[in-house]
Amino acid sequence: MNRLLDSIKLLALAGGFHFFSSCSYEPEEPAFGFYPSRNFPPVEYSSPRNPITREGFELGRDLFYENGLSLDSSINCSSCHAQTHAFADHNVPLSAGVGGKLGKRNSPALINLAWMPQFMADGGIVHLDVMPLAPITDTLEMALPMQMAIDRLKCDSEYRSKFEKAFGTDTITSQRIFFAMSQFMLLMVSDDSRFDKYLEGEALLSDSERRGYSLFNTHCANCHTEPLFTDYSYERNGIDSEFDDLGRGRITLDPADDGKFKVPTLRNVELTYPYMHDGRFFTLEEVLDHYSDEVEPNMSHRLPQPLNLTSAEKEDIIQFLKTLTDYSFISDPKLAEPRR
Ligand code: HEC
Ligand code: HEC
Repeated sequence: MNRLLDSIKLLALAGGFHFFSSCSYEPEEPAFGFYPSRNFPPVEYSSPRNPITREGFELGRDLFYENGLSLDSSINCSSCHAQTHAFADHNVPLSAGVGGKLGKRNSPALINLAWMPQFMADGGIVHLDVMPLAPITDTLEMALPMQMAIDRLKCDSEYRSKFEKAFGTDTITSQRIFFAMSQFMLLMVSDDSRFDKYLEGEALLSDSERRGYSLFNTHCANCHTEPLFTDYSYERNGIDSEFDDLGRGRITLDPADDGKFKVPTLRNVELTYPYMHDGRFFTLEEVLDHYSDEVEPNMSHRLPQPLNLTSAEKEDIIQFLKTLTDYSFISDPKLAEPRR
């Protein structure tokens, strides 16, 4: 309740105007829109021409789950970004696109994208509103030219009417497709894990989890910083000394950035295996063994070394990481595939 009221005060994007008629009660049905979590910083996403509305969000959801946006109508965004896995792929290191072609990187979880300044493991995409262009058109993913995507949607009278409801006219453009998808993805907010409840005094952590939290703060929070569990910087975390994938260096063309990847959030990390940009580690145990005992010498100076964690300490950190699982996020009907 308090959390909701706080959120109302912080309401950042349009859609919730009837809240302002009174702030002393909880309306029966929460207005539609975006409610920044109490503990999170201001959102990074900014697109004045794309306020979130119920109609836009629902259209975005339909499009996210739309097989017709892939060349042979076989896959959609959720094929690689599944809600049950916090919108990461189903336990595979590399995802299969149209025709079973494998991509080059592990499909990341989609979590709290409203706060993410740059997209992809190398930060090569700088705005959420253009993000869907890459997967829709990439021949290793959905392989559908944008014009074909638009033509297909235009042939569908239901979609024409949904675009009209969302944007005022039934014109279908790439930008409107992307705007609607942004509206859907912006509401993929995960802030309701047991850890969040612990911070608000509504849940307890076990002794092991609390020890893990303290070890995490010493060794990991540098980069995986609360409350988003990432600072969105690009770092080398010591997994390689030679780089098949140049990561950030591919974008900046600065050799000093070779092998750096965006620090991923650790929210829901229990569900998003396998780990790292190429999905090389299947378990959190392997990840902890890596950080403790196997880092390559040219890692970031922000990675405290040597860790030499005991197996009990590794286990405590893992227990803590599991408190970041947000069951209401992965079962939120609002984010699920709509029934047609
Ligand atoms: C075939 C699998 C596949 C499909 C289908 C797919 N994605 Fe992705 N997605 C990926 C991979 C792999 C990456 C990471 C690419 C990279 O880092 O270079 C990614 C990255 C992203 C990101 C950036 C996340 C981050 O942490 O930077 C967003 C947002 C996203 N996808 C949204 C979508 C949307 C929207 C669709 C549907 C239009 C879609 N994806 C379809 C595999 C897929
Ligand atoms: C110097 C910054 C830094 C520090 C400190 C750090 N990490 Fe990371 N972490 C990263 C980067 C960068 C990646 C992504 C690497 C990649 O994509 O290949 C990552 C990835 C991960 C992943 C995989 C997440 C995913 O979705 O694939 C886990 C789990 C993880 N770190 C846990 C930890 C733990 C636990 C600690 C403390 C023992 C820690 N990290 C310390 C930078 C750091």
